Amino acid sequence: HDQGHQPLYNALELSKRFYQAQLSRHDEGKRGIEYLKQRGLSGEIARDFALGYSLEGWDNLIKAIKPHSSIQQMEQAGLVINKEGTDRFYDRFRGRIMFPIRNHRGRVIAFGGRILGDGKPKYLNSPETPVFQKGNELYGLYEAKKANRSLEELLIVEGYMDVVALFQLGIPRAVATLGTACTRDHAKKLFRAVNRLVFCFDGDDAGRNAAWRALENILPELHDGRQAHFMFLDQGEDPDTLVRKIGKEAFEQEIKQSRSLVDYLFEALSQQTDINSMDGRARLSELAKPLIAKVPGQVLKQLMLEKLSQMVGITTEKLERAIQQKPAD
Ligand code: UTP
Ligand code: MN
Ligand code: MN
Ligand code: MN
Ligand code: MN
Repeated sequence: HDQGHQPLYNALELSKRFYQAQLSRHDEGKRGIEYLKQRGLSGEIARDFALGYSLEGWDNLIKAIKPHSSIQQMEQAGLVINKEGTDRFYDRFRGRIMFPIRNHRGRVIAFGGRILGDGKPKYLNSPETPVFQKGNELYGLYEAKKANRSLEELLIVEGYMDVVALFQLGIPRAVATLGTACTRDHAKKLFRAVNRLVFCFDGDDAGRNAAWRALENILPELHDGRQAHFMFLDQGEDPDTLVRKIGKEAFEQEIKQSRSLVDYLFEALSQQTDINSMDGRARLSELAKPLIAKVPGQVLKQLMLEKLSQMVGITTEKLERAIQQKPAD
């Protein structure tokens, strides 16, 4: 089916080049360069990630790529929007820094566009298209693979800027889930690339919730020596701000000291229960059981059972039996 998508890939590639040219050659593009500089990004990193700029105005892209792409193809690729009730179209991205999202082969499949100042939405993303399914793509994976001869670990972050900043500051192995949760499909894709994941979401409520959802989604993928760790940032910090503040070496140390999945899981559960009371310990084991049951790896499962056993004061044998029991209804 990829053959049928060729016109869409073509329109997306042409757009990427157009946006890059606007950033480096157009007068208005200087605003984009100023913005990138102010965010601490170099020209070299802008080239590595093929960053660009979309001009203000309604039809700059349409005019530029019309000789090579039909308006229907542009629409299917998510590049233009049909003006409701008319047969007219306008550019989706206007006045934004453009981040091309590339698939594992390096083909552009979508864009994210950041507004230069405040204003909403902060990031505008391509809609889902025949070549872009959000729950399945990871921003930066192509670039990380290209930059590392052998990749052993990936950091999973929330945002475009986190990926790019970490890369520029010497940690070229972060990928972003693009504002969605880390799905089961993401987990599969990530573990096809490496055996060790380190989740590093923003230090805010949204980031902490995203970490827990990621944990739930990767449990079914944990087997054969696969590992996951979690880094928790101080309130208000994200990987971009943190790596700029503390630098590469200290950030690498933070990665090394990140919490293991098992520690994070039991710490989070014991915060919801009072393990000093019998009821609390019963509740803890009720909460842990369905999570442990999701893990296919026998060694990890055993480790989790042992930890739970220590916490609630029941033998692992009894816990194992309880986990295998079918629910009453
Ligand atoms: P954040 O709000 O944490 O933004 O959203 P950020 O990445 O730190 O961006 P800067 O540093 O302010 O430039 C995290 C991610 O969520 C998605 C984007 O993928 C963003 O990078 N997002 C956020 C959107 O898609 N739209 C938005 O309006 C905001
Ligand atoms: Mn396809
Ligand atoms: Mn955030
Ligand atoms: Mn952020
Ligand atoms: Mn940020």
